[in-house]
Amino acid sequence: MTIQEYMAARREYFNQKLKDFLPHPDSCPHKLLEAMEYSLYAGGKRLRPILLFAAAETCGGTPDAALPYAVALEMVHTYSLVHDDLPAMDDDDLRRGKPSNHKVFGEAMAILAGDALLTHAFTVTAKGRQEEPQLRLAAVAELAKAAGPAGMVAGQAMDIEEGKKEASLVNDIHRCKTGALIKAAVRIGAIVAGASTRVIHGLTQYADSLGLAYQIADDILDATGTVDQIGKNPGSDAKKGKDTFVTVHGLEGARIMLAAETARAIRALHNLEGDYTLLAELAQYLAGRGE
Ligand code: IPE
Ligand code: IPE
Ligand code: MG
Ligand code: MG
Ligand code: MG
Repeated sequence: MTIQEYMAARREYFNQKLKDFLPHPDSCPHKLLEAMEYSLYAGGKRLRPILLFAAAETCGGTPDAALPYAVALEMVHTYSLVHDDLPAMDDDDLRRGKPSNHKVFGEAMAILAGDALLTHAFTVTAKGRQEEPQLRLAAVAELAKAAGPAGMVAGQAMDIEEGKKEASLVNDIHRCKTGALIKAAVRIGAIVAGASTRVIHGLTQYADSLGLAYQIADDILDATGTVDQIGKNPGSDAKKGKDTFVTVHGLEGARIMLAAETARAIRALHNLEGDYTLLAELAQYLAGRGE
């Protein structure tokens, strides 16, 4: 199976199963559920679920056991995008190739849809049942930490600060706002598969570099991509005068750093015993987005 075939297979599996984890229509207002579903099904690449599955399978786990965590993580990620696009934040009108959530449902409902996706994600983790309770608890704690004030939200808070940002600050922002959830994908996959502390440590180094690389590619695509390619309006960072890897290091510099960070991710896998081809190929494939 090629890496593209693997990704397509896991994406399809995820998309098919997702509906089993949505709130029951009788349990929540129709408009709210509609707004949640709108963004969940708008056509995301499902990279975080795919990474979570890949980490779990690499460590001897199964997609079925990893599924609730993959769903929860994608719900948290989707909420972060809904809020990220709000006028008070990036003020972006297009997401996943469609009008942003607030453009369709209004700002207030978009805020609530984000809130609901975040909280429902933690209800979903209660559906994990195949693993030991302490593994489940560790996975839930991982998700909460990655999403919260020391993770994604920290990155978003630093990102909206006004003023010129130094390279090291942009680095820290990227590691938090995007890296934290990518790292959580890999670590949760490994945790629920029962991986050893040594393996989790090695995979964390891999994921740390991969998460940074992913946001570097996002910055490059914001500067060079087309609407069709990225499903959002390019030039959004420049319009807001945002410091990114491209403004700080230049386009070529950002590309070099993307390649270096990807190589670092793959090197971290070489220190581990076992077959890590799948994760290495995923890193290589994702780097191709920003080349
Ligand atoms: C977009 O993430 C925002 C970042 C954190 C870089 P993705 O590029 O993975 O977006 P979707 O999920 O495919 O829409
Ligand atoms: C993404 O950063 C961060 C989160 C949503 C957490 P961006 O603001 O660069 O993401 P896009 O480019 O809007 O997808
Ligand atoms: Mg943003
Ligand atoms: Mg944005
Ligand atoms: Mg961006």
